[in-house]
Amino acid sequence: MSSEKPSILVTGGAGYIGSHTVLALKQAGYDVVILDNLVYGHRELVEKVLQVELVVGDTNDRPLLDDLFKTRKFEAVMHFSAYAYVGESVTDPAKYYRNNVVGTLTLLEAMLAASINKFVFSSTCATYGVPEVLPIPENHPQNPINPYGATKLMVERILADFDVAYNFKSVRFRYFNAAGANPDGLLGEDHNPETHLIPLVLLTALGKREFISIFGNDYSTPDGTCIRDYIHVNDLADAHVLGLEYLLKGGDSEVFNLGNGNGFSVREVIAAAQTVTGLSIPVKECSRRPGDPPVLIGSAEKARNILGWQPQYPSIQDIVSHAWQWHQQRHK
Ligand SMILES: NC(=O)c1ccc[n+]([C@@H]2O[C@H](COP(=O)([O-])OP(=O)(O)OC[C@H]3O[C@@H](n4cnc5c(N)ncnc54)[C@H](O)[C@@H]3O)[C@@H](O)[C@H]2O)c1
Repeated sequence: MSSEKPSILVTGGAGYIGSHTVLALKQAGYDVVILDNLVYGHRELVEKVLQVELVVGDTNDRPLLDDLFKTRKFEAVMHFSAYAYVGESVTDPAKYYRNNVVGTLTLLEAMLAASINKFVFSSTCATYGVPEVLPIPENHPQNPINPYGATKLMVERILADFDVAYNFKSVRFRYFNAAGANPDGLLGEDHNPETHLIPLVLLTALGKREFISIFGNDYSTPDGTCIRDYIHVNDLADAHVLGLEYLLKGGDSEVFNLGNGNGFSVREVIAAAQTVTGLSIPVKECSRRPGDPPVLIGSAEKARNILGWQPQYPSIQDIVSHAWQWHQQRHK
């Protein structure tokens, strides 16, 4: 491991997007330490694939953070750890405000105490709520329609205030739908429970699920199903390395959408999965779910212009086929 580049703490690095980003950071020569409580993270991925130091701990544990920041010198923190189940955030908001807001504030206060002032934050398109214009630009009004989105918006606000008061610099990335897997098959998406469309479709192809539900077939979209912006997880990882480098070079606090700029409907995703797997995938048409906007597509022009970000895998075929490689291996 090169010791020329600074050390970075990655919270949630044993999870889906965090683990792909840790690999990208490692490949770019950074020294990485992961902090993850392993509630949803995967120890074996860290030990076998990432091979970086894992601190098993919680962002709500201030003494642990103080100790970590005393014994190790970090130039920046990348903060992926959060709970991210929208439905659960509605039924158990306390859990979400505690982990996503209080846990983040605890981490930020520990960083301030240790004089670390660079932070890359995983925010979400769920902070926008129902879009007024498409593709959604960063200056779109933020009116989240669920507690999950509200927790992320609160942290964005805390970060803006910390910049004014403490010169605390952050890059806030608002992701659209993270999808796909490392093309080398080393890492992939392994949420439990799984709620994301592409893994659910592929688990159906593998016979692990009976059918894939289509929630609503009468939206005002060309095929009647919801359209979402799927962004390859490796492209997200690349954006994080660029965002980090932007801050390390003295960049000011900024917010960036990270999306493909292209939307795909539920039926298009299922069709892509059928082509990639060569298998037929049973579907069940169900009624709409409350709170699902017909179309969510983001504009990521700002990240392209300021960070020089160039997504490598914009095609839904690539996204699905990398995810399929991972799922086949995982369920062998
Ligand atoms: N997956 C998406 O499409 C998507 C979209 C927008 C935003 N995000 C955000 O990106 C981030 C990563 O998402 P993901 O899909 O990789 O989720 P994930 O659940 O796979 O990863 C989150 C990781 O954080 C850990 N964690 C949770 N709370 C913790 C705590 N208090 N202390 C230490 N570790 C903790 C979990 O064990 C897990 O390993 C989250 O903040 C999520 O809100 C994800």
